[in-house]
This record gives sequence, C-alpha cells and structure tokens, in this order.
Amino acid sequence: MENENRAFIEMTGITKRFPGVVALDDVSLTVKRGEAVALVGENGAGKSTLMKMLSGLYHPDDGEIRVNGEPVSITDPKRAQELGISTIFQEPSLAPHLTAVQNIYLGREETKGKGIKRLNEKKMLEETQKLYGKFFPTVEDVQIPVSQLGALKNRVIEIVKALSIQCSLVIMDEPTAALAEHERQVLFDFVHMLKAQGIAVIYITHHLRELFGLVDRIVVMRDGKKVSEVEPQDTDVDDLVARMVGRTITNYIVKETVPVGDEILRVEHLTRKGVIEDVCLHVNRGEIVGLAGLAGAGRTETVRAIVGADRASGTVLVDGKECRIASPKEAILNGIGMLPENRKLQGAHIEMDVKDNITMANLREVLAGNFILEKNKEIKTAEDYVQRLGVKTPTIYQKVKSLSGGNQQKVILAKWLFTKPQVLIFDEPTQGIDIGAKHEIYNLIADFVKEGGGILLVSSELPELMGLADRIYVMHQGKIVHEFARAEATEENITLYASGGHES
Ligand SMILES: Nc1ncnc2c1ncn2[C@@H]1O[C@H](COP(=O)(O)OP(=O)(O)OP(=O)(O)O)[C@@H](O)[C@H]1O
Ligand SMILES: [Mg+2]
Repeated sequence: MENENRAFIEMTGITKRFPGVVALDDVSLTVKRGEAVALVGENGAGKSTLMKMLSGLYHPDDGEIRVNGEPVSITDPKRAQELGISTIFQEPSLAPHLTAVQNIYLGREETKGKGIKRLNEKKMLEETQKLYGKFFPTVEDVQIPVSQLGALKNRVIEIVKALSIQCSLVIMDEPTAALAEHERQVLFDFVHMLKAQGIAVIYITHHLRELFGLVDRIVVMRDGKKVSEVEPQDTDVDDLVARMVGRTITNYIVKETVPVGDEILRVEHLTRKGVIEDVCLHVNRGEIVGLAGLAGAGRTETVRAIVGADRASGTVLVDGKECRIASPKEAILNGIGMLPENRKLQGAHIEMDVKDNITMANLREVLAGNFILEKNKEIKTAEDYVQRLGVKTPTIYQKVKSLSGGNQQKVILAKWLFTKPQVLIFDEPTQGIDIGAKHEIYNLIADFVKEGGGILLVSSELPELMGLADRIYVMHQGKIVHEFARAEATEENITLYASGGHES
C-alpha cells in the first residue's frame, strides 16, 4: 500500500556550476504526492536550472535525487517521462512545422491495427480536442502548423501536451506568462484537479498573487540558494518579495506626467480582414499610450501591422509624415522600434553574446568613422545597460542562450532602448521579469518619454497599464471600443469594455 504522505521527489544538496556562475548551491527540495509547491525568486535565482535536473536536461555536479525513495539518475528527458515527470518549459519547445496534435503526441503516437501499425489519427485528434477544448472553445486550429498560431496558443498547446502525459509530477515553469485571466483560471482548476488525483505540482511564477489559494508551500530562492520555505497562510506578497530580493520594495510604479509634445505616431484605418478593423490611434511625444484587451482582441495584431510584420491596409504617419512600412526593418528606418511578444523567435540572437545583442540594431551609434566599430563605446554601452537593467551575467561576452529567461528579456529590452527610435512599441515588456527588475524597466520607459519619445504599450497586466499609461485604448474583437484618459481608467471599467460588456 502506498503511503499517501511519502515524498515523491527528494532532492538533496544539489549543486550546479556553469562557467563563471554557481547556479545552484546546495539546494534541497522535497515534494510529496498530491502537493503543490511554488518556486519563486528573482531572474537568475536558479529556479529553471533546478527543474531542468528533474526534466533530465541538466545533471547535478553534486547532490542526490530520489524518486519514490529510490536514488535515480535522470539522464535525459525520456527517463524523466518514465519516472512520471512532465514539464511545461519556460521557453517555447514545440516543433514549429508540426500541428498541435502532432506536437502533443510527438514520440508517443497512438497506433492501431495488428502487424503493420498505422497512426490512429482519429483517436489523437479526439483526445486533443477534449483537453484543448477546455482552454479554447474553438478547436479548429489543432490541425495547422503551430508556427502559424500566436504565442498564446502555442503556450496552451504546451500546457495541454504536459497535462496529457500520464505522470506523478507536473513541473510548470511560468505557465501563465502569456495567458489571459480566463485561461489562468482554467489552469488553476487543472492544478487543483491534479492534486486531487494525487499528482504533485511544482509551480514557478513571478505573479506572486497567484500562489495564494493555489499552492501548499512556497520555496524562495536567491542567488542559487534556497533561502526560505513558507506556507501561504504565513506570508503575503510583500513578505515574499522581501525574502526574494533581500530588501523591501514598496513603490512599484514611478511614472510622473511629463509635458505632452507634438504628435509622433498616427495610425489611421488599420485593417486586416478578419483580424483587426479600422483601428485609429495616435501617440504624442512624452506620452505612454496603453493598449488593453483580452487575449485575441487584436492588440498584438495591431502592433504587428503598424511595424509591417503583417500586411494590412491603412496609413501610418510618423512625425506627421506618411510612411510606407513593409517590414520591421523599414519601421526602424522610419523611427519605430518594436519589442515583440514572442521573444525567443523574434527578438534575440541567442547564439550571440550579450554585447552584440544590445548594440546590433544601432551600430551607427558605436561607429568610429565609417566602418570601424569603436570597441570601447560598444563595451561601455553594453555594460551600461547591463548595469541599469540588472542583467545577471558573468560578463557582457556571455552568450544570451545561457542567461535565465528573464535576463534574456532584459537584453532584448536594452537592444530596443538603444536603437533610440522616436516611437517604441512594447508588447508585454515585463512578462517573466521579476518584481525588482520591473521597477527598473518602468524607470527606463519613463526616461524614454521624458526625452521626447512616445510609447505604445501592450500589456495584460492592468495595474501596470494603469500605473504607466497617460491614455488607454481598449480593444475588443479587433476594434478599438473605447479610449480612457488616465484618471478615468479603473480595472473594472477597462475589463467591462474589453469583454464587450458595454454593448449589452
Ligand atoms: N547553460 C547555461 N550556461 C551558463 N549559465 C547558465 C546556463 N543555464 C543557466 N545558467 C545560469 O544559471 C543561473 C540560474 O539561471 P536560471 O535559468 O535557473 O534562473 P531562473 O531562476 O529560472 O530565472 P528566470 O526567472 O529569469 O527564469 C543564471 O545565472 C544563468 O545565467
Ligand atoms: Mg527560469
């Protein structure tokens, strides 16, 4: 008879070093069957590295892992699966050319027939639709390549994939990063359901509020060490933040209103059939303009159309002049920079180092003469941004690939700030960024508009939008349905317009 209370996972004294960093320093973690444990900490604290030991991607330099009381060596992801460990990774991990169904069943396809086996496509499709339907009522796109779907849908597919594997532990590394409120709720229901079935969950998030009512225990990491372990009823968000960063942070958002200058960006009648319709908006110098809406409302589609990433009809004017923009490269030449939502695919050159990533989009600034790079200026620029954004990296010569998820994002953010465009478009700039670094990013955004730039900000986090934006446009089903001045915007009335509630 299996003991209910027995530990499923016991990690003891886990240490992991990378060149120049001790990613994990003598960390121990125990997870019982049916227990949900949260792992929190700043960017680079070691959360994902610890989990990669359980997923078979990294191996400890020191320490022991026991599963069901037995010492194990988790040599590769397949071994992890055999041991009953399933992971939703922080980075996108789907095969882009395959469909949702093919991705979900990759390597464990259902077959039928005796002798020569054939794929049981019907069964795989039905099973996928059952799970998928719980997240997305519309399931028609499970049969097209996932590269044609947005970041959000890719996320959902990864979640469905992890949940469809028979397992005893599900590791979720920032599962809600791209999800809207509704989908988050569905995911939380899944966590409760898994627990009820005796399945353990390890949950990593920077949205600390989510943890209350969800997990049984919260483990806090800092600089590769486990610094505390608390139960939700004995802590709160501020206390957790203090444990994470080793100091207290109170005032998260710092935007002061700066004088509004001339119009810098105007978008007229932007339309892409079936996606966005007659979108009109403008941004003035010194302004941060928010774009709110639920997932699928057309916010990402709008900003992609503005920078020419997707074709759309309508006009874009920068500084009063009409621009023909057919690609993000042309957008930069016209003074518009965009930090895209799906960073891994669109933003960073992960095989290159931190320095080159920061300076590559604006080499003109670091040139001495016509063609020669001024090394010192380049180094100084990179070091400056690394310091201001608190990028955790041994040196500026580290490959971006080896940074933690949040630190990769900071590098891409630095790159766009350094292009010094007239208008910066940010699509979910603080996704996956820890609370202390968010603060720094808000400061940089505020500095940018103070110097006369304009910002268009897409964010699913309403407190962030309301704290930063001077005006907020709300989108619903591909259209702008309302414009709020800063003073009128509340979480309730933005949500009302975003959900189409104003129509009834
Ligand atoms: N393959 C690698 N090579 C070199 N350093 C690495 C590698 N993987 C992780 N690191 C380093 O280990 C440390 C911990 O990184 P990890 O990804 O575990 O952080 P994290 O807590 O998951 O952060 P985030 O919240 O940003 O995702 C970081 O300093 C990171 O740069
Ligand atoms: Mg991580």
